[in-house]
Amino acid sequence: MKFIYSSLFIAFLFGCKNQDSKKEYSEKYRPQLHFTPKAKWMNDPNGMVYYDGEYHLFYQHFPDSTVWGPMHWGHAVSKNLIEWEHLPIAIYPDSLGWIFSGSAVIDWKNTTNLGKDGKPPMIAIYTYHNDKLEKEGRSNFQYQGLAYSLDKGRTWIKYAKNPVLPNPGIRDFRDPKVSWSEQFQKWFMILAVVDHTNIYSSENLLTWKLESEFGYKIGAHGGVWECPDLFPLKLEGTDITKWVMLVSINPGAPNGGSGTQYFIGDFNGKTFKTQQEVAKWIDYGKDNYAGVTFSDIPLNDGRRIFMGWMNNWQYANLIPTNIWRGATTLPRSLELLTENSEYFLKTTLVKEFENLVISSQSIESKVVNGELKFISDAKFPIEIDLNFTIENEIPEKFGVFLINSKNEKVVIGFDKMKKSFFIDNTKNGWDNPKKEFAIVSYTPYNLIGDKLKMKLVIDKSSVELFVENGKIAMTNQFFPSEEFRNIQLFSENGTIQLTNGFIKNLKSIYK
Ligand code: FRU
Repeated sequence: MKFIYSSLFIAFLFGCKNQDSKKEYSEKYRPQLHFTPKAKWMNDPNGMVYYDGEYHLFYQHFPDSTVWGPMHWGHAVSKNLIEWEHLPIAIYPDSLGWIFSGSAVIDWKNTTNLGKDGKPPMIAIYTYHNDKLEKEGRSNFQYQGLAYSLDKGRTWIKYAKNPVLPNPGIRDFRDPKVSWSEQFQKWFMILAVVDHTNIYSSENLLTWKLESEFGYKIGAHGGVWECPDLFPLKLEGTDITKWVMLVSINPGAPNGGSGTQYFIGDFNGKTFKTQQEVAKWIDYGKDNYAGVTFSDIPLNDGRRIFMGWMNNWQYANLIPTNIWRGATTLPRSLELLTENSEYFLKTTLVKEFENLVISSQSIESKVVNGELKFISDAKFPIEIDLNFTIENEIPEKFGVFLINSKNEKVVIGFDKMKKSFFIDNTKNGWDNPKKEFAIVSYTPYNLIGDKLKMKLVIDKSSVELFVENGKIAMTNQFFPSEEFRNIQLFSENGTIQLTNGFIKNLKSIYK
């Protein structure tokens, strides 16, 4: 009886919450699958860490405006990486500066001595950005600070002896990503420093020793390096461990503006070395930036889970949303594979995402020759899985497009001449004054064999494309003046067979 009453009570509470959220989160363009702040500005995800049944997401947040400004750490928690509960702002600016990007870890061994009653502290290490010093023309205005929480991230105490890593006189000196290494029994911090990364080590998170620098002449250098990450990853199906370095760069991404490159190599506790000279990219779309991975995922789970900011500095402050501005990408699992003896990262949606599927309809085989009506009266969010077979020749272009009654559209497909997947946003309905948003973005791709798999996850104002189970990913936003209601298949100059597939209706995370 007691049980029935309490479950009824819980159901009642949930009911109330859902009613609220439905109203609150139904604005035009408001993502229904992706995390967004309740209101105002967000950029990078920060301090992603798992602790005691909760995934924590902190994020760059300006609570007074929908454009970037003095940064705070916003906060949300989730039990399943998909549905997030908003919590009050976690870390506020103080006399040392605004709170820029950084990371969080659980200090299981209490190396900081900041734990209490046998409970490990949650430690956040972030960049202080001192606006006053910057305005005075000084170059030492970014340094690393530490805050800790003894109540599951709900309240934070700033470390009394901040900063823990002072600035050596370098303007861009930020975005510490800290992790414990079982192998080396030390903490490591990777930091973005202008055009390279610095790797530091520590016994206690409070004092840091510079071990090495990486990247001066390696990878992409079209802009400043930001938000790095460094972690070991097993090569799928083997016992070989490689180290992965993620480095965001702005500008200088393959399709303009912000993007995240990565390097696969080895780390000996001091230096990171790679054979790779050219950058590889986590996502070739325009809208996946500053992504890093969660800390402290339990060993028996073992995943490397990544989330990025679904935006691009070229137009982040201008995208036509009200109330809030900025979202994360969907959480993705990173796996390490090889092809033609080259390493690459495969990105797939986390398995928890599957719980959002409310109905799934299989698609019968059809031949596409020109335009073919596919889904009318489509309701986003939706997932579309398409398995193509190339019969004779590949058509010049083929794929899918989303269209509304005003002929605004977004085209997602493969371009034979360009040997690339593409997302064509030229007619999506919105552009920034510099015309950097409404463009075609490309991902070079070597088609091998006659089969091709495309997975599309379409939310109210974004599409995420995964090719061949995550061999490549592309994430782009779109802002039509009226919702896209029709989805069509197409091929240009040639035919292609859609062998089979699925259309999956997805539940909004607010319902
Ligand atoms: C990346 C970034 C970081 C910085 C933060 C400031 O988008 O520029 O380098 O810490 O945003 O909000």
